[in-house]
This record gives sequence, structure tokens and C-alpha cells, in this order.
Amino acid sequence: MAQFENIKNLLEQSVKLRKTIPTSNTPLHKINKEGLSETQINDLFERIISESTQHSLRMMGHMDTQPFDEAVVADAIVSKLNNNVLFYELSPIATRIEMYMIDYFCQKLSMSDGFGIFCSGGSIANITGLFAAAGGFQNQQTRSDIEMFVSEAAHISIKKAATLIGIDNVTVIHALASGKIDIEQLEQAVKNSDVKTKIIIGTVGTTIQGAYDDIPSMIKIAEHYGCWVHVDAIYGGATIFSETHKHCMDGVQYADSVSLGHQKWMGVPRVSGICILKDKKQMDQRLAMDVPYSVGDQMNLGTWGIQGSRRADAITLWITLCAKGEKFIENWVDTAIEKTHTFYKMLSEDENFEPVHQPEMNLQLFRPKKQVDMLTAHKQLTDKGQEWVSLSTWKQEPVYRAVILHPDTQIENLSNVLDLLKQ
Ligand SMILES: Cc1ncc(COP(=O)(O)O)c(C=O)c1O
Repeated sequence: MAQFENIKNLLEQSVKLRKTIPTSNTPLHKINKEGLSETQINDLFERIISESTQHSLRMMGHMDTQPFDEAVVADAIVSKLNNNVLFYELSPIATRIEMYMIDYFCQKLSMSDGFGIFCSGGSIANITGLFAAAGGFQNQQTRSDIEMFVSEAAHISIKKAATLIGIDNVTVIHALASGKIDIEQLEQAVKNSDVKTKIIIGTVGTTIQGAYDDIPSMIKIAEHYGCWVHVDAIYGGATIFSETHKHCMDGVQYADSVSLGHQKWMGVPRVSGICILKDKKQMDQRLAMDVPYSVGDQMNLGTWGIQGSRRADAITLWITLCAKGEKFIENWVDTAIEKTHTFYKMLSEDENFEPVHQPEMNLQLFRPKKQVDMLTAHKQLTDKGQEWVSLSTWKQEPVYRAVILHPDTQIENLSNVLDLLKQ
């Protein structure tokens, strides 16, 4: 335990403002026959801190931010306890907490007959939902009988899921400038399809623009043509905490499966996600398999899903939400979106830059008004080591992408980034 005594100091160092994306090129310590002293280990930790990307209030480039202190402490304890949610006997309270958290989100989503499991990240949650959509472990049909309908703005994990599940028939639907799926084109494509199983994917909080698809219209199409709807709410799911913005999740209660990703906008460390099916019976039919290594009268969460051993991530999320309270998350969501609207206005009046779309959540794409070498300008931004936004592409065009996620990011940080990018 002596090694842990310095942890408070290391954690304090890790949040002290420093270069946002440092270069990491010092030689790595080689693993030797003998281990290291406490001081040497401490030196290694200090180096790791100084050569790591810092998710401070100046980091505005990705859907990543500093987890809350309560979550970091919970995560460390979860690591030390190393309970495995596979079996109840390996995780008595973690199993109960995971079931509580699943029920909590089912209630929040108004899916009172739903059931789900925690997954190791957003991609795994999406793969789990889409595997269920394709029939899961019970699937008897050939994959050629399945078609997926997915927006060009959907996350890459959807394509990965299709490949893993063996679905070749993936129809990519045009997305509007806002990032929302083109509903008319979706309906036409679904209408033209004559396969047995049609899977529509909607997103709440797209990775590029933070847009939310028109889920109620997707549900109508699905009801009419008999489709499974999977909603990727890995990013935008946090809006259910907000009275002002929960409309982004409208219609999700009627989806067949939904994934949530609290590692992004609920302040816990990665990787952690949830996949919920609207109907518990479907969960049993499609995603359950007996695990014969342990027999008893307790419920083993390892019965469901595609993963085996799992961390007790539900504990970290539960502690975090208990500690912060729902109002805190609501305020975080509301202020992040408000700041993004202010940034949009700032960009609309800027002489050097312009917004690429109207924001729906806390992501804003923008570009220079003049033709400039954006790659070089962006590299210079990284070298400056202060405020940082990412360089992405949307419809084959380069765009700067700001994700206004850190609770302490201020309007001043947004105007600084424009100054830093100016040539
Ligand atoms: C909308 C969306 N879905 C899924 C994912 C995948 O999550 P993960 O990176 O945890 O696998 C992301 C990641 O950014 C995302 O933005």
C-alpha cells in the first residue's frame, strides 16, 4: 500500500494545467529482471503524467474529458477489489448495483419492460445491440436475409458491427448538413427492401456534429415496414437528465435496443457503456447463454451479452451519480449546450471563421472563411499546447471540430482557440 500513499500528489499533478497534447518521445524504461524502488516508480508515474494528453478545460477536440474525482476514487477501488460481474459470487454488491443501474436507466428511458447489461465501451454496446437485432445467439437465418440502414453520420462502430456479424447488406443513408439522417431517403430505402430482417440505426449525438436523428419518424417507418430500431445514444444519452434537452431522446422509448455511454458525458473513466433491450424476453431469447462454470440460485450477469469477465463499472457510475446528483448532470448538459450556442453566434460574427452547422448539442464544426492550409494551421495549434480543437472531415471537406464538454470550459477558451488558429 505504501506505493499508493503518493497518489493524491500524483492526481493533483495530473490536473495542473500543462501542455494539452505533449510530444512523447523519451525512451521507455525497459522491463528488467528486478523491479523498481518506490521512488523510481514515482518517477515513471510523473513521466506518464507529463507525456499524456490533458483533458483540461482547454481540451475541446473530442468527446473525452476529465472524470470527476468521486469516479476516479471509485474506479481505483473497483480495480483493487477486482470483482467480476460474470458471477454473483465474484461480485455480490456489484451485481446488485449493475441491476439497479440498468433498472434506473430503463425507468429514465421509459422502457419499463427493458433489461440490459454494462459493456466495455460504446462500440461493444452497439455491437451487442446489433447482434441482438440480427437474432443474437438464437439466429437461425442466413445473414443475406438481413439489411442494415445507417446514416453516413453514424459512428464507425456500426460498420464494425455489420462486418463482425456478417451483414454485407448495409445501405448508407444521406445525412443533412445538420448531421441528421435524411428521413425521406431512409423511408424510400426501407420501402424498396425485400429482406426479412431490416435494422434501422439512429443516433442521438452524432460523433461529428452532435446531431440527434428524428427517432419518432424512424419508429413510424419501423412500425410500418417491420424493422428493428437500434439507437446509438452513446454520446447524447446524457440529455435524458435535462428538462430542456431531453427532447433529443424523444422516441427512444419505442426503440428495440439502445446504447448509452456514460464515459463521455456522465463523468466516469473509460471504458464503459450500456446496452438495453426494450423487451427483457428478447434479451433472454437473443442475448442469453448458460455459463456452466458456476451453478447456484443467484442471478449471474455473465448469462447475457457477448463479453465474458467484466469490470464492476456499474459501481463507478453509481457512486458518481449518487455523489453528484442528477441536477448536477442536468446543469452540465444545459450549460455545455448553452456555451456551444454562444460559440456558434461568435463564429457567425467572426471575420476569419464561419460555423458549418447550427449546433444541436455541444459540438460545433467550423472552418476558415479564406482558403488556408488547415492541416498546417492545426499542427501549429497542437504545438502551441493550449486550447485545442480537432481537425475532422465532413463530406470529404476538412473542418475544425469543437466539443465543449469540460464543465469548466469558458467562452474565453473558445475565443482563444480562434485566436490561436488565426494565421
Ligand atoms: C456516437 C458514438 N457511438 C459510439 C461510439 C463508440 O464508443 P467507444 O469509443 O467507447 O467504443 C462513439 C465514440 O466516440 C460515438 O461517438
